[in-house]
Amino acid sequence: MAVLIDGKAVAAELRAQLRQATQQLWEQRGIRPGLALLLVGDHPASLVYVRSKARACQEVGFHSVIEHLPAEATQQQVLDYITRWNTDPAIHGILVQLPLPRHIDERVVLCAIDPRKDVDGFHPENMGRLVLGLPGFVPCTPAGILELLRRYVGSLSGKHVVVVGRSNIVGKPVANLLYQKTPDANAVVTICHTGARDLAAFTRQADVLIVAMGVPEAIGAEHVKEGAVVIDVGINRLVDPQTGAERLVGDVRFAEVLPKVSAITPVPGGVGPMTIAMLLWNTYRAATGEYGYGQESPHRATV
Ligand code: GUN
Repeated sequence: MAVLIDGKAVAAELRAQLRQATQQLWEQRGIRPGLALLLVGDHPASLVYVRSKARACQEVGFHSVIEHLPAEATQQQVLDYITRWNTDPAIHGILVQLPLPRHIDERVVLCAIDPRKDVDGFHPENMGRLVLGLPGFVPCTPAGILELLRRYVGSLSGKHVVVVGRSNIVGKPVANLLYQKTPDANAVVTICHTGARDLAAFTRQADVLIVAMGVPEAIGAEHVKEGAVVIDVGINRLVDPQTGAERLVGDVRFAEVLPKVSAITPVPGGVGPMTIAMLLWNTYRAATGEYGYGQESPHRATV
């Protein structure tokens, strides 16, 4: 019987820990973590994500602000917000929701964020730190995946992890975290992408298969080894042509893969809630000034 990896429950536990830590931080040091969120345009999923992030801040006792610019906003307007927040002492974390409208250069925007407030971990400084194994902010979805694997799988040392997808947000950072010579990682990692000629030939070798393709239900039983652990990062909205009802599905054909695996994340309720929980942890760390050297394990969700 496959184990269902309950990201929703783990995320709730982490938020409860954070609520306590936040209260202590206020009582002992008079610091209340603050997160600034910027949304440009009306991408419906982004609107939902930004609101969920602000709600999560409220739940753990953080200060948060949301700024919402129209889709026609200029790059300079975006940069102006970042400049302001970079020097605002009440703001410890800055998050610009992606994707941005096409006329805005995402690279310029992400580079403008002070790396010490880059709670998404997308600034080249933090990405570089991650690759070098130095402490810094780790992107939230990869950090959430590592936390789930730590709890549900235990040691990954010597295991073969296959990552499908090479995005800057998930594929690249999660692969780079997993091969690091750290107690939580030390896995042998293969990265697959759209250039793979026979994807299943790679994925069938995985002890742990991490799927971040952004293609609804692309991975089936033929891609998975018996007893593998499957982490499905996909969140795809499918509309039923008959009823018009929306349905969330992952990148994995869950029902088909379930009988073969030893553990799997459901969609929703798997990786998704962990992303927000790790964003909160990153913001808490930004507020306590833990950013930089001296942090033992940058992606651990422990105080
Ligand atoms: N869009 C999809 N995932 C993310 C994320 O983790 N952070 C931001 N800022 N935008 C996203």
